[in-house]
Amino acid sequence: MADESQKWVLMVTAQTPTNIAVIKYWGKRDENLILAINDSISVTLDPAHLCTTTTVAVSPAFNQDRMWLNGKEISLSGGRYQNCLREIRARANDVEDEKKGIKITKKDWENLHVHVASYNNFPTAAGLASSAAGFACLVYSLAKLMNVQEDNGRLSAIARQGSGSACRSLYGGFVKWVMGKEENGSDSIAVPLVDEKHWDELVIIIAVVCSRQKETSSTSVMRETVETSALIEHRAKEVVPKRIIQMEEAIQKCDFATFTHLTCADSNQFHAACLDTSPPIFYMNDTSHRIISCVEKWNRSEGTPQVAYTFDAGPNAVLIARNRTSAALLLQRLLFHFPPNSETDLNSYVIGDKSLIEDIG
Ligand code: DP6
Repeated sequence: MADESQKWVLMVTAQTPTNIAVIKYWGKRDENLILAINDSISVTLDPAHLCTTTTVAVSPAFNQDRMWLNGKEISLSGGRYQNCLREIRARANDVEDEKKGIKITKKDWENLHVHVASYNNFPTAAGLASSAAGFACLVYSLAKLMNVQEDNGRLSAIARQGSGSACRSLYGGFVKWVMGKEENGSDSIAVPLVDEKHWDELVIIIAVVCSRQKETSSTSVMRETVETSALIEHRAKEVVPKRIIQMEEAIQKCDFATFTHLTCADSNQFHAACLDTSPPIFYMNDTSHRIISCVEKWNRSEGTPQVAYTFDAGPNAVLIARNRTSAALLLQRLLFHFPPNSETDLNSYVIGDKSLIEDIG
């Protein structure tokens, strides 16, 4: 290893998009390893629109691991960060940068500390899956820095220990998180279904209904749902397994009608399970409900569906249009029904499509 007195810094920067589930993950069977009670399927967004950019740095001058999120220091003491750091460190390899005269051996990594600076280009913790992009990017950039020789599937199992939905952000296109059977979580990984070119006419519009931070973390609500809702068990055991098969087929065939039916039904059932929780949790607000009515009415009047909607743990609508023409018509309708600066707090639209994880460092 280089002389400690040489205060060198080695850095890697990576960018990871967020993903939006079309068949939702809700409920854990193991909270520490983050193992889900059902499989889920998501679509990864274009990093240009909703992504996390993370720079990880290592230097002998650093005396502890530290992290800044959107410029503010956050604690790394939580189990999720510690699990990710431990798993990546355990797989670190020799790193050599001849130009800078840096040589780090596998053993050195045990004593070296990292600094992490992460930025989201979208509201953090407002139900726009910021933890998904965040942990995926953290794991991916640390793996690059420490020369970890694992494929994205193995890395997804590490990102999963940061946040369940994060495992799906290691791939572009449509991705399935297989819940797995093993107690140690070794088979609970993300698998790519189709890449981002497969169904490239889809256009995703996110209607930001409210960008305020959530009051309760989805983790604790998820626990309460599993403990108190009768619906969640039925959903995990009876409903989702069938939907996963149908959704995979719809994606393979680019069958928008089936895709829309399943996506909307699954979002609605997830929010029904939240309502079935004691105490009940309301993630959607009146504006969210009005968006659903507007889309449902439009889809019915057209005969063939034009837009699918899905809502995560927040009021913001993720709208998936069948093509650019439907997306343009959707924007017109949204602007007509929810004009900017009206009494509703719907005030911005983010347009995205699907894309791969992008390594810029
Ligand atoms: C509604 O992945 O944020 O977005 O594993 O506790 O970090 P933790 O939860 P998180 O939950 C996401 C829930 C969801 C549905 C989904 O993305 O599948």
